[in-house]
Amino acid sequence: MTVTIVGAQLGDEGKGALVDRWGGPPDVVVRFQGGDNAGHTVVNDGQEYKLSLVPSGAVRGKTGVLGNGCVVNPRTLFSEVDGLRDRGLNPNVRVARRAHVIMPYHRVLDSAEEGEKEDDDLEAGTTGRGIGPTYEDKAGRRGVRVGDLLNPDVLRNRLEYVLPRTRLLAEEVYGLDLDGAETPDLPVDLADAFDLDWLHTKFAEYGRRLRGEEMTIDCGSYLVERYAAGDRILFEGAQGTSLDIDHGGYPYVTSSNPTAGGAAVGSGVGPGVVGQGEVVGIVKAYLSKVGTGPMPTEIDGSLADEVRERGGEFGTVTGRPRRIGWLDLPMLRHASRASGFTGVAVNHLDVLAGLDELRVAEAYKIDGERFAVPPATAEQWAACEPVYREFTPWPEFDGRATASEGIEALPAAARDYLDYLSETVDAPVYAVGVGPDRAETIEVANPWSDG
Ligand code: IMP
Repeated sequence: MTVTIVGAQLGDEGKGALVDRWGGPPDVVVRFQGGDNAGHTVVNDGQEYKLSLVPSGAVRGKTGVLGNGCVVNPRTLFSEVDGLRDRGLNPNVRVARRAHVIMPYHRVLDSAEEGEKEDDDLEAGTTGRGIGPTYEDKAGRRGVRVGDLLNPDVLRNRLEYVLPRTRLLAEEVYGLDLDGAETPDLPVDLADAFDLDWLHTKFAEYGRRLRGEEMTIDCGSYLVERYAAGDRILFEGAQGTSLDIDHGGYPYVTSSNPTAGGAAVGSGVGPGVVGQGEVVGIVKAYLSKVGTGPMPTEIDGSLADEVRERGGEFGTVTGRPRRIGWLDLPMLRHASRASGFTGVAVNHLDVLAGLDELRVAEAYKIDGERFAVPPATAEQWAACEPVYREFTPWPEFDGRATASEGIEALPAAARDYLDYLSETVDAPVYAVGVGPDRAETIEVANPWSDG
């Protein structure tokens, strides 16, 4: 059996808490897209682990797989693996040989392009981890893959091809002085980041380590074998539907597919394998966004400050304060359709308790025309006026006590809110987050219970 967990909104929906809660039964936990742009916190045996690349299951003794749809920064990979070992764990992490490698120059290009786009308000507010430029090289058939790191001759060949044009791009298009003293926020010298010999030595060394520790796999074959042997697989999505490069608010998106289809393409199992399992959309009870782009239900002022403080809405990877908005149902309808949710988990319900007012956007309007889902272009989406439905705010409640008593113990107004959400996305509520602690999740159904 498989369970796929995906973000229904803009990332940071609290996927980690559910991956954690439902992380016991699976034998394998697979990331299928993105890279070290995905901050997640895992709590196990009272210990807290902060990871941005390694799948959370690795902390719990499961096999953690980075699928072919991921982009892998080996420096982050080994620093997270070593960090877990230093804390007495023995993480079993496997990396697809078809996954692409984030090179130092990708990080440089990421910040350079963001800077360039700023004048036209086109910057995505990226995490600066080189995600976009790495996927760009992948699609441009000039990327370096994990499998290439294992063969120094092939690695050299790939670098020899890609570096001259990459240098040109950096110097001529972005005007960077690669041999100058000024270095952006990068763990290596700017000159090294574009230097053939330096890169070859460094990345061949990573290749030796990957080979020595037998970390690389043919991901699809590996997973299908484990699935056929009866192992349970959890697909752990990063980011969210509205950041999906196809289904999100392009161009204010990440460069991969965080929707459920990505779990098949990004891991090499058939879509039927994913489709026969559960697909759980993780929803935050309101909206938060770390990057730029349209957000029709955005709120500001003291109400936004209150929600931001209570919800701890500051970026995990970047520390930036997040933008805040009311729950946006057009966004959720779109997410549920794109991924085929079989259930949803709603987080941060406690954050809304005790507010003076409470709204959700049930639809949008542009010039009187009603939209049930977001329009396809960012310009139209930005022009959308939310059609709000008012809800009665519920009073503060004890998260721990409610979690142990069950969903019926929630204030009636909170249950109305959840019923409306569930009806809109046509999927049952499997869990409700009512506080930051592990013990503050109400579980209505466990997606593994059938498998
Ligand atoms: P990138 O993935 O670093 O290229 O960033 C592209 C967009 O996705 C930006 O708006 C980022 O803020 C957003 N983003 C990337 N990763 C996350 C995440 O884990 N949570 C929330 N937003 C993210």
